[in-house]
Amino acid sequence: MSRRPVIAGNWKMNKTLDETKALIEELKPLVADAEAEVVFCPTFVNLAEAVKLTEGTNIGIGAQNMHQAEKGAFTGEVSGEMLTAIGVKYVVLGHSERREYYAETDEGVNEKTIKALALGLTPIVCCGETLEEREAGNAESKVVGQIQAGLKNIDDITKVIIAYEPIWAIGTGKTASKEEADEACGWVRKTIADMYGQDAADAVRVQYGGSVKPANVAELMAMDNIDGALVGGASLTADFAKIVKY
Ligand code: PGA
Repeated sequence: MSRRPVIAGNWKMNKTLDETKALIEELKPLVADAEAEVVFCPTFVNLAEAVKLTEGTNIGIGAQNMHQAEKGAFTGEVSGEMLTAIGVKYVVLGHSERREYYAETDEGVNEKTIKALALGLTPIVCCGETLEEREAGNAESKVVGQIQAGLKNIDDITKVIIAYEPIWAIGTGKTASKEEADEACGWVRKTIADMYGQDAADAVRVQYGGSVKPANVAELMAMDNIDGALVGGASLTADFAKIVKY
């Protein structure tokens, strides 16, 4: 079963409009011949410009979150309809920072995922355990539980990208070993098989995220269960091209 690798840059709360434009212009030619699917996720205010600057290129633009409702009294939120209206194609959902700082739940992630798919957006749904959970031997049950709750009742699970991101490896410089990452992405795939069947599990793409950089991307991407990377810190400079073309 061949799954097309997908490398996404999660810019988090970084880069002004001018900085966003500059990085996109720098990266465009460097990633133009990438074999992997390429996604940049700038902040909400810079999405429209990012879409314009990448029109006709191999780069897709993603948001870092969305609200599940179409519109209404949700101060500070952005709907999926607003994203598709400006040409956004992907949306990161349930990132551990959203879960930790903004009390996002698996139930909310599930609603958002269903809504994103209905709008034709490709969700990148994040899961992953804390260091405490890993050390207590609970990493697998945490990840399986997040997938079971966050990805239930999905019509076509193969349209979802899942990102396994151990929280202890995010922004810490501490990458999961390739074996640990592959094992956990395998837990994700097995859970999808249990929920949606083996064909779906063979087709769904699972990314690894957590301190991915040019020096470790190739060995991670060589693992059976890893189909891509969700990259934070190392997606903020033109060096990201080295990850995209690992
Ligand atoms: P990092 O972040 O690459 O800076 O560890 C990854 C992420 O949070 O998606």
